[in-house]
Amino acid sequence: MYSHLEKRLQDYSNYKDFIKQVVYLENVDSTNNYALSMNPKEEGVFIIAKSQTGGRGRNDRYWHSMEGKSIAMSAIINYPKLADPPPSLISLLSANAVLDTLSSFNLQPKVKWPNDVLVNSNKIAGILCESNYEKDSKNFIIVGIGINVNLDEKDFLHEGANYAISPTSISIELRKQSSLEDIAYKLIDSFCFWMHEYKRNNPSRIIEFWEENWNDKNKEVSIIKNDKLLTGIAKSITSKGELILEVENNIELINSGEIKI
Ligand code: BTN
Repeated sequence: MYSHLEKRLQDYSNYKDFIKQVVYLENVDSTNNYALSMNPKEEGVFIIAKSQTGGRGRNDRYWHSMEGKSIAMSAIINYPKLADPPPSLISLLSANAVLDTLSSFNLQPKVKWPNDVLVNSNKIAGILCESNYEKDSKNFIIVGIGINVNLDEKDFLHEGANYAISPTSISIELRKQSSLEDIAYKLIDSFCFWMHEYKRNNPSRIIEFWEENWNDKNKEVSIIKNDKLLTGIAKSITSKGELILEVENNIELINSGEIKI
C-alpha cells in the first residue's frame, strides 16, 4: 500500500530533510499511542498505519480508520521550552498540510477552528495534537492526522459512531477511489514544507494561509467556554492559534473548545 512512499519522498520531496524515518505499521491501536510510546521520540519520525483498532479523536471520541480506506498518520516534533514561534502553531500548520493535500486532489477544503477539515460542510479529516509539558525534559508534540479517503456512507455507520460533524470522504466527494500512497506522499511533503516555514520563523504565512481557508471567518458561531455558551462573530485567530470572538462589542479569546453547529 505504501511500498514506494519513502522512495518517492526521497526522490521528489523538496523538504525531505525534515524526514528522519517513516515507520509503517500493518495494524496498531493508534498511531498517536505508538508515537507516544517511542523512546526516544525523535523529530521527523512519521508513523503510518494501514489500519487502527483504537484511533482516538479530540474530546475522547473514537476515530474510525479502515484498511485501504483511511490515512492514519502521526508525526513527532520536538520543540525547545520557550519556542518562538509558539508550538501551538504546529496544530495550525498541520491543518494547512491537510488543506494543501485535499486541494491538490481537486477538492475545496475549509478549516473549522480549532482544526477540523471540512469539504461541503462535512468533516473529511481530523487532527489530534498531543504534547508533554514535563519540566526539564525534552518536549515533543505528536501530531496525529486522520483523513477519510475511500470510506463510503455505510462505513460511517459502525458501532460506536458519534460524530460532532457529519463525516465525508474523498471518495464520497469525488465519486472515485484514490491511492492512499499518493495522498500520504502529498500530506508528508506538505507537512515538511509547513514545518520548514515554522522553523524559519514565519508564523504569519502559516496563520494567513489558515485564515484564507477558514470556514467561519466573520460568521456568527457559538462556543462553550467555562461551561457557558458564548455566541459571537469569529473575527480572527492569534499567533497562538486562539480564536478571537467578538461578543457584544467585547473580545473573548478562546483557547480550547469546539464550535457548535
Ligand atoms: C479529531 O478530529 O477528533 C481528531 C482525529 C485524529 C485522528 C488521527 S488518525 C491518526 C492519529 N492516531 C489517532 O489515534 N488519532 C489520530
